[in-house]
Amino acid sequence: MAPPLTLPPLSLYIHIPWCIQKCPYCDFNSHALRAELPEQAYLNALISDLEHALPLLWGRPVHSVFFGGGTPSLLSVQGMNQLLQIVRSYLPLVASAEITLEANPGTVDMSRFRGYREAGISRLSLGVQTFNDEHLKRLGRIHDSDSARQGVRMACDCFERVNLDLMYGLPSQTLAQALQDVEAALALGATHLSCYQLTLEPNTPFARTPPPLPSHDAVAQMGEEIEQILHHTGFRHYETSAYAYPGHECLHNLNYWTFGDYLGIGAGAHGKLTTPQGILRQMRPKHPDHYLRAVAAGQPVQEQYLVSTQALPFEFMMNALRLIDGLPASNFERSTGLTLQQIQPALDRLRRQALLSPDPERLCATPLGQRFLNDVLQEFLD
Ligand SMILES: C[S@@+](CC[C@H](N)C(=O)[O-])C[C@H]1O[C@@H](n2cnc3c(N)ncnc32)[C@H](O)[C@@H]1O
Ligand code: SF4
Repeated sequence: MAPPLTLPPLSLYIHIPWCIQKCPYCDFNSHALRAELPEQAYLNALISDLEHALPLLWGRPVHSVFFGGGTPSLLSVQGMNQLLQIVRSYLPLVASAEITLEANPGTVDMSRFRGYREAGISRLSLGVQTFNDEHLKRLGRIHDSDSARQGVRMACDCFERVNLDLMYGLPSQTLAQALQDVEAALALGATHLSCYQLTLEPNTPFARTPPPLPSHDAVAQMGEEIEQILHHTGFRHYETSAYAYPGHECLHNLNYWTFGDYLGIGAGAHGKLTTPQGILRQMRPKHPDHYLRAVAAGQPVQEQYLVSTQALPFEFMMNALRLIDGLPASNFERSTGLTLQQIQPALDRLRRQALLSPDPERLCATPLGQRFLNDVLQEFLD
């Protein structure tokens, strides 16, 4: 018999759905600002949304907070202060809580960074993408390489934990250029890197008019060589796209990948909460106007459902197998309330194909399994 569902750690995600302008490759829930940021109205909505969700949280401690976007660094220091004070008054944040802010190098300066830090932000994630001016232009970014470098230097001066988002496989990018970006990030002192392969997301300008991308083999080689450089520099590749110096891993994202709970507030935010009835998934309305109206009507949640028993193995594995070291097999039973026997046939098949580690005590994709993760996950669909 599987042990009863145990309450995993809880995180809070706060979505800020605006950007100065929309990048042509991006399908995140982000909207170009056409007028002034409706900051106070949105902050009020976030606060009502949080109040509405409190009964589901039963005073549980919160281990991390993540401001994602969009471009959360559009929020004023005063607005951030106000919001974090309310969050702290409503939720018991643990003393060591990691509080991350995503920032665009085109929207920051030193006084803003200092203000954010004083408001309680402990980790900064900067969307650099590349340090190459030609590529930045091609990506429609609002910053150039000088402001990216300047932003990283300021971030590293102000925050002990800094992540840089980089993308590779960019239009007309060579292997040498992709590696230069990683070298530049290391030289500037980042302790965490998220290296994403550029993907053409449906319904984006890049998907409609594809730019000339490097070949599949060239992009694969970029990924391998980036991994090698980072390995030699002492970074640990701990998740599909994430690299960190030991001890600098992102605790908030680790909570997703270990199938932890999270409340998501703000436009389009998703949540996963363990309740006495089972695992509840929630979605807020995506468009900022719809979200503001839904909150004003006292109904911030657009859709919610209990995850079916059949869907749980896929949902757990989709997260756990992104971790390069996977998870202890016992986590599956604790997190899903199912028994390992229920997925044993799938585990056996994948182990025979060398896609999963043979260690029965761990659920871990082999390097081959990591390359074909989508195929591996198909085995856990009901
Ligand atoms: C929400 S954005 C981060 C912060 C901020 N909005 C910015 O772009 O500076 C998250 C990250 O996802 C990555 N990303 C977005 N669209 C992508 C795509 N089509 N392919 C690969 N990575 C992408 C970028 O590295 C981006 O920084
Ligand atoms: S700034 Fe970030 S979230 Fe906004 S459109 Fe560009 S990649 Fe997307």
